[in-house]
Amino acid sequence: MPNPNDLRYTKIALNNGSGAIPALGFGTLIPDPVATRNATKSALEAGFRAFDTAERYRTEKEVGEAMQEVFKEGKIKREEVFVITKLWNTNHRPERVKPAFEASRKKLQVDYVDLYLIHTPFAFQPGDEQDPRDANGNVIYDKGVTLLDTWRALERLVDEGACKAIGISDVGLEQVKEIVNAARIKPAVVHVESHPYLPEWDLLNYCKEKGIVLQAFASLGHNSEPKVVEDLIITGIAKRVNKTPAQVLLAWAIQRGTALLTTSKNPTRIQENFDVSAIPDDAMREINDGIKTRVRLNAVVQTGVPGFIPRAK
Ligand SMILES: NC(=O)c1ccc[n+]([C@@H]2O[C@H](COP(=O)([O-])OP(=O)(O)OC[C@H]3O[C@@H](n4cnc5c(N)ncnc54)[C@H](OP(=O)(O)O)[C@@H]3O)[C@@H](O)[C@H]2O)c1
Repeated sequence: MPNPNDLRYTKIALNNGSGAIPALGFGTLIPDPVATRNATKSALEAGFRAFDTAERYRTEKEVGEAMQEVFKEGKIKREEVFVITKLWNTNHRPERVKPAFEASRKKLQVDYVDLYLIHTPFAFQPGDEQDPRDANGNVIYDKGVTLLDTWRALERLVDEGACKAIGISDVGLEQVKEIVNAARIKPAVVHVESHPYLPEWDLLNYCKEKGIVLQAFASLGHNSEPKVVEDLIITGIAKRVNKTPAQVLLAWAIQRGTALLTTSKNPTRIQENFDVSAIPDDAMREINDGIKTRVRLNAVVQTGVPGFIPRAK
């Protein structure tokens, strides 16, 4: 068992030599701009040092402003924070990648981005409409570009220096293998939904074998039914080890070797989610062997349409 008090500071080395990603990360998929700004600031103050945003979340500006405010106070430096953002589906055409990256970087007010992810493997009709639909309401996909074309454009961003590491999100094992086999610069991170109801062991084992970090989103189950924070095995362990169910879930994710993202608008919960310490090996076994429920909460991997983002602008 790792030193219980060190767990929250766990960092995982990236395979491209650009540094290490803090295992415990804060996600900013928060619809309200003021809440995003406040939550980002609270999370930095609580101790989080990895922040995830995306062009599609429309939170980059608020995350950038909150970071700048905290950096200006002088307590935390830019270099101590790991900044992640993502390329949206409408920008998969290689010529659109750099402008999209630069727009994100500017909104975030950073000289470099620590990790740039392809948000989903689905290319949508290129353009400014993030959710392009035909007259019947169906998504308009772009057949004129492959995931590998887009990946090559991300590799060029790394060559140019303002993007330290690249990765892919909302992909399955076969897609990850395709990119790994064809890439000049291998993905540093694979970012997917994962929690005890969707442990993704095969993907995690493959990633570990290749030195790729699996970063789990919805690590507390996104407050969706069935609620993993209310699972009887999780609540039973929480009672036994005197932690909250969320802290048990976050410890489990780090101890099995993933990075993770969690989100809250509530400062007390943000602090709770950073105050993670190790759970005993028998609790790890109980979660791994005892929880049989299997459910995917976010259908984005099937369509490229984000399950947790409202359609309207
Ligand atoms: N690539 C993708 O397609 C994708 C998709 C989804 C998410 N993500 C990323 O992953 C991040 C995390 O995902 P997520 O939002 O699903 O995270 P999550 O942490 O599983 O779920 C967040 C929900 O849990 C609640 N919560 C937070 N702390 C809690 C606690 N201690 N006890 C009980 N409930 C708690 C929050 O409510 P309160 O705010 O009320 O506390 C919120 O409703 C996102 O912000 C985003 O950056 C990526």
